[in-house]
Amino acid sequence: MGRVALVTGGSRGIGEAISKGLKAAGFDVAATYAGNDEAAAKFTEETGIKTYKWNVGSYEESKAGIEKVEAEIGPIDVVVANAGITRDAPFHKMTPEQWQQVIDTNLTGVFNTVHPVWPGMRERKFGRVIVISSINGQKGQFGQVNYAATKAGDLGIVKSLAQEGARAGITANAICPGYIATEMVMAVPEKVRESIIAQIPAGRLGEPEEIARCVAFLASDDAGFINGSTISANGAQFFV
Ligand SMILES: NC(=O)c1ccc[n+]([C@@H]2O[C@H](COP(=O)([O-])OP(=O)(O)OC[C@H]3O[C@@H](n4cnc5c(N)ncnc54)[C@H](OP(=O)(O)O)[C@@H]3O)[C@@H](O)[C@H]2O)c1
Repeated sequence: MGRVALVTGGSRGIGEAISKGLKAAGFDVAATYAGNDEAAAKFTEETGIKTYKWNVGSYEESKAGIEKVEAEIGPIDVVVANAGITRDAPFHKMTPEQWQQVIDTNLTGVFNTVHPVWPGMRERKFGRVIVISSINGQKGQFGQVNYAATKAGDLGIVKSLAQEGARAGITANAICPGYIATEMVMAVPEKVRESIIAQIPAGRLGEPEEIARCVAFLASDDAGFINGSTISANGAQFFV
């Protein structure tokens, strides 16, 4: 039996590329999603990867969902906390609801996804935790106080988990993508997209597959000594 990988938000966008990349690398993959049944069904039909629906913001739903995945596919060796949302507004207009929704999904969602699989990883003395953060967690972003706070929080999570998991053969790392050509970014007006690209020294958006290849490497045995790191994949837009 191959190693098992769980990808939250693994049915669309960057997560879809990650799910496919891990499958190509030999993992048995489970992908989760929040509510877009149509996209999930299409994804499963095209890839053969099973999808599971739960809200990562709920600890109970996450725990029950993870138990189901482990019963159907096997103990989870690799967990990719990718599910994320934006609720942008300048700070003076940001509502407590916009703040809370993003905190629940992007930050508490990482706790809810990793915490239930952690004891099994410790017992089996192997684990890979990979969190999809963002360039905007590194540098901040106008209109994204909520989002940037969660994505900066991801970096604190992996640096702490790395220290706790190292002796048990578990690594925890973050990837900070810059602007990636997902549906969301491709849907913005061409002029806005051009102004985004103008800020990227590489002169182009990143491809979801470029993030997926980082994940596949971090998930591999070869990456065992890389622990607590942040990989920036942003076409030279920002350096830490
Ligand atoms: N796109 C970029 O340029 C970019 C740049 C930097 C970082 N990121 C980060 O990369 C990750 C993926 O972004 P993306 O652009 O690929 O997003 P996306 O295309 O909007 O896809 C988001 C995925 O997450 C799922 N999801 C959302 N809320 C959820 C919840 N509460 N519970 C469970 N699943 C949930 C969605 O499920 P449904 O299909 O059911 O809605 C979907 O599968 C995010 O963490 C994002 O912050 C993206």
